[in-house]
Amino acid sequence: MLTTQFQQLDNYLGHFRQLWQFTPFVQDDYPWRTSYPSLADWLDEQPEQSILLWQAQPDQLINTFSAYIPGLRLADDLVPVPHQQHVSNAPFWLKAGIKGRKWQQISAFSGLITAKSQPIVEWCAGKGHLGRLLAWQDGCEVLSLEWQSELCQQGQVIAEKLELRQQFHCLDVLKQSSGHYLQRAQQVVALHACGQLHMTMLEQAVENKVQEIRLCPCCYQLIPQSEYHPLSQLAQKSELRLSRQDLRLAVQETVTAHQRERDKRQVERRYRQIFDIWQRRHLGQNQYLSIPSAPDSLFRQPPLAFCRWAARQKGLAFDGHQQLPELTQMAENRLRQVDRMELIQHMFRRHLELWLVLDRCLYLQENGYETSISTFCAREVTPRNLAIRASLKA
Ligand SMILES: C[S@@+](CC[C@H](N)C(=O)[O-])C[C@H]1O[C@@H](n2cnc3c(N)ncnc32)[C@H](O)[C@@H]1O
Repeated sequence: MLTTQFQQLDNYLGHFRQLWQFTPFVQDDYPWRTSYPSLADWLDEQPEQSILLWQAQPDQLINTFSAYIPGLRLADDLVPVPHQQHVSNAPFWLKAGIKGRKWQQISAFSGLITAKSQPIVEWCAGKGHLGRLLAWQDGCEVLSLEWQSELCQQGQVIAEKLELRQQFHCLDVLKQSSGHYLQRAQQVVALHACGQLHMTMLEQAVENKVQEIRLCPCCYQLIPQSEYHPLSQLAQKSELRLSRQDLRLAVQETVTAHQRERDKRQVERRYRQIFDIWQRRHLGQNQYLSIPSAPDSLFRQPPLAFCRWAARQKGLAFDGHQQLPELTQMAENRLRQVDRMELIQHMFRRHLELWLVLDRCLYLQENGYETSISTFCAREVTPRNLAIRASLKA
């Protein structure tokens, strides 16, 4: 079943690759304009209010855009994911020092851990909030692995105060061997472990034949390579090649930042576009020129200071002072298009995330595990709400 679902997703993402596999910010027009001309024209005509509305309601996108993009399907139609809600009965003193949403995530995730009294390894534990709840809930032994010694110390103090069987080990799981810990573990749990951290966890768990695995992956793009290396044999055969930028799309949500942050980001985007339009003209070429990150102070001044600075980074001299009003207008038009390109891309975000989650499940399946996926809390609690549950078959 997982194999069929993966193949359906893989075909779907492959078929619509043109609509999502590119970087909107560096394009000077919709890269799919000739394939979807009526979509391009219609989208250009849409007022800003509609774009904002769709950005806030990504679930509505597929319905709205189906008229222009035949064959669109909801990710849930291709891979139905059941929801498993769990409400913890943990006492109030166990929640002390844990922020509301973090507690909701931890307590919901803890409901996936069913086997009782087996030693647990908590991978990339932070202060070990999850491990603490599990040690209290099941009275089991928990080893919390974390590389920040300060977090280990803080977590250890709390565990001792509460007389829980939770031990911290300060360890870089990417550099130091964790096999020793996993051999003793019957269960390994990881909540919001980023890219390579959770991929390494899965490889080590498989190697050490850990009985139970519970994983909520996040930040798939945090891997050392520039291109994603799938874990499962099936995904390795896929024609999809995913760059880090593609992986980032899997975890990109519509902007939730504060207004001040959003305004700052918008100024930066505008200045970068102004410079880019100028450099294309100046150098007589039609390629985006990547500029390193710039000091914040440049975005509190008019665009000239940034353009001069950016030009210097590339060994150029900015001579577009007189053209700035025109360049600014052109930059605004481009940003309008960037927003629209991102909107279309976001219709494929959940599909991509599920493709990556299924790659992990298939890898476990290929290695003798029974696996399933579920959502363990509402998206409002955390958009990274997909959990993998795997048990080694007897
Ligand atoms: C996103 S946090 C998740 C923490 C915790 N699981 C939770 O959900 O609250 C990821 C944790 O991984 C830790 N980490 C990052 N790189 C690591 C490494 N190479 N070895 C061990 N821990 C690492 C970080 O310090 C951080 O505490």
